[in-house]
Amino acid sequence: MKKRDQWSSNFGFLMAAAGSAVGLGNLWKFPYVVGINSGGIFILAYIILLILLGTPILMSEMSIGRNTRLNAIDACNKLKTGWGFVGGLGVLGAFTILCYYSVIGGWVLKYLFKYIVSPSIDNPSEYFKNFSESIVEPVIWHIIFAIICITIVIKGISGGIEKISKIFLPLLAIFIIVISINVLRLPNALNGLKFFLIPNLSDINSVSDIFSILLHAMGQVFFSLSLGMGTLITYGSYLGRNSNIQKNSLYIPLFDLIIALLACTAILPAVFAFDLEPTAGSGLLFNTLPYVFDHMKYGKYLAIIFFLLVFFAAVTSAISLIEVISSYFIDNKKWSRKKACTISGIGFILIGIIASLSLGTLNNITIFGHTLFDSLIILSDKIIMPIGGFFICILVGYIWKTKNMYDEMSSGGLFKIYFKKTLTFLIKFFAPAMIIIIFITSIF
Ligand code: TRP
Repeated sequence: MKKRDQWSSNFGFLMAAAGSAVGLGNLWKFPYVVGINSGGIFILAYIILLILLGTPILMSEMSIGRNTRLNAIDACNKLKTGWGFVGGLGVLGAFTILCYYSVIGGWVLKYLFKYIVSPSIDNPSEYFKNFSESIVEPVIWHIIFAIICITIVIKGISGGIEKISKIFLPLLAIFIIVISINVLRLPNALNGLKFFLIPNLSDINSVSDIFSILLHAMGQVFFSLSLGMGTLITYGSYLGRNSNIQKNSLYIPLFDLIIALLACTAILPAVFAFDLEPTAGSGLLFNTLPYVFDHMKYGKYLAIIFFLLVFFAAVTSAISLIEVISSYFIDNKKWSRKKACTISGIGFILIGIIASLSLGTLNNITIFGHTLFDSLIILSDKIIMPIGGFFICILVGYIWKTKNMYDEMSSGGLFKIYFKKTLTFLIKFFAPAMIIIIFITSIF
């Protein structure tokens, strides 16, 4: 049998896992979700859930992966026969996300290219609408984005994913600091900082406001940390026994949070400085920011750096999603890596094309009143991710048992595990209960 590929070092794994976490979720979604959920309060809820929900599930997924050394489906099945469906949900979810993620990745490439060839974008909202609803161009950029990612994953774990993450992630961190510093020098930027750093309790008027914020915060924790889809099971399966899982599950959320806060620092003060609406929603990145760049000194160059940064982030996340799918075909169906990546790639490229068209030409075809594009987002974020996370907790807490997880995490006594009791409580009771409550309230 061929030897299973491994990360060349724990640092390489950290870059890849943090690269998976840091993505469009941090740069595109986080600032606008903060914008529509009254800023500071949302961030407070987010940080609490990141610690209480995110970290324990992250740890669980990583331990399952390293213990079984298998893809998400076979890993869950190995812990308990019949539980492969949890990993199966993950593979399905990863595929669902990829279909739209790659389309947005294509938009980022388009904007990057646009700023390279021209100094600015006139009338950004109209430009974005015309572009995203057109037929040919978004599809081509989506395909280019997809091919870049597939090529990286074909090169394997240490030679492809790890190598790219080790270059892209540090660059991304530097770029976002450059952008933030430039934005903070704008007039009125302080109000933007205050908006998301200082929780304003007067924004909460009812219990349903609290639930709405918790719901968005939980969804964001899951999405941003790449949880509930077997990503960390898959990445963990290539992890050596000399790596400290508990330490890693502290560094990854911390890094992810820092980048998310920096993304807010780069985007929200600019929005305030130009008197724009922080509640602009999902168009914030593409509709609002070009306006800001057009009015800044060296705006063109900052825009190029900015979209390059978003592109790096999107690539390191998309490759983790592709790996979840292809590792199943490689382990279970004994396909070559090339075949597994190419076939899964063709799959998400094709559905992605329809998703892209569903924003324009095909917008009359809807599923329960939503376009295909929105349906993919709802299916992955609101349904598969929380259900996947719930079952991971049940699998680890009640079937595999947390004791075995701690054994795995300690690498045969090499590492001391801290807060065992608290973690057990969080995995067995708090996280599943929280997910169910928020999931049910989201339905009603
Ligand atoms: N975390 C990534 C982001 O913030 C997206 C992502 C990658 C993801 N892999 C995932 C989301 C697995 C959920 C599950 O953009």
